[in-house]
Amino acid sequence: MSSGENGKGTVSVENVVKTYATGESVVHALRGVSLEVAQGEFLSIAGPSGSGKTTLLNLVGCIDAADSGEITIGGTRVSSMKRDELAMFRRRNLGFVFQTFNLIPVLSASENVSFTLSLLGIGEREIRERTRAILAEVGLAGMENRLPSRLSGGQQQRVAVARALVKEPSIVLADEPTANLDSDTGQAILELMRSMNERHRTTFVFSTHDPMVMAFARRLIRLHDGAVASDERR
Ligand SMILES: Nc1ncnc2c1ncn2[C@@H]1O[C@H](COP(=O)(O)OP(=O)(O)OP(=O)(O)O)[C@@H](O)[C@H]1O
Ligand SMILES: [Mg+2]
Repeated sequence: MSSGENGKGTVSVENVVKTYATGESVVHALRGVSLEVAQGEFLSIAGPSGSGKTTLLNLVGCIDAADSGEITIGGTRVSSMKRDELAMFRRRNLGFVFQTFNLIPVLSASENVSFTLSLLGIGEREIRERTRAILAEVGLAGMENRLPSRLSGGQQQRVAVARALVKEPSIVLADEPTANLDSDTGQAILELMRSMNERHRTTFVFSTHDPMVMAFARRLIRLHDGAVASDERR
C-alpha cells in the first residue's frame, strides 16, 4: 500500500463557520476555523465537550456541510460539492474510525472489512487478498471469521482501523477512537494508528479530550468554544 504518497492527504480549512439552529436558539459550533494539514500528519483535535471537535471532523469528513468558508482536501474543493459527489468523494478518499466502533454485527471481522471494498467495485480475489493482509497487519490473523460480539472492544476497534485503511484512503478521521476503551487498550490502538501512519503515510486526524491521547499526537490543535485556541507541533 502507498496511500500516503500521492499528496491527496492534505486538508485546508479556511474560515469555516457552522451554526446549528435548535428551535429558538442558535448554537455557534464553529466560529471561523482555519487550519492546514500536510500529507502524513498525525494530528489531534482536542478541546472540552462542546468545543466543536465532532462538528469539525464531520465537515472535513464530508458528512456535513459548512455554512460558510472553504474546505479543500487533496486539492479538491469539497465545500462546493453536491451531496452525491460528496458521498462518492468520501467513499473513495476518506476512512473513518468511530468511538463506538460501528461494526456491522451480523458480519464477521473479514466481512466488515471486505464490504468496504465491494462498494468500490473491486474484484473478489483482490478483495480477499487485501482483507487478509490488512487484518494481519492490525494483529487479527486467525480471528477473521469472528463476529464483532466475539471480539473484545480493542479487537473490534482494530477491525474498524483495518476497515478504514483497507481502501487506502488519503485521510483517516477518528472521533474519540479510544473513548470506549480502557487506557492500555486505548494506547495499543493509538500505537497501531501511529504505526499505520508511519508505514503508509496516511494522514490521521483524531479528536479527544483525553490527555494520554493528546500526548500521542505529533501536532495538537486545541479548540475552545468553536475557535482554534492553540496549534502546537512536537
Ligand atoms: N446536530 C446538532 N444540533 C444542534 N446542536 C448541535 C448539534 N451538534 C452539535 N451541536 C452543538 O454544537 C456545539 C459543538 O458540538 P460538537 O459535538 O462539535 O462538540 P465536541 O467538541 O465534539 O463535544 P464532545 O467532546 O462532547 O463530543 C455544542 O454546543 C453542541 O451542543
Ligand atoms: Mg464530539
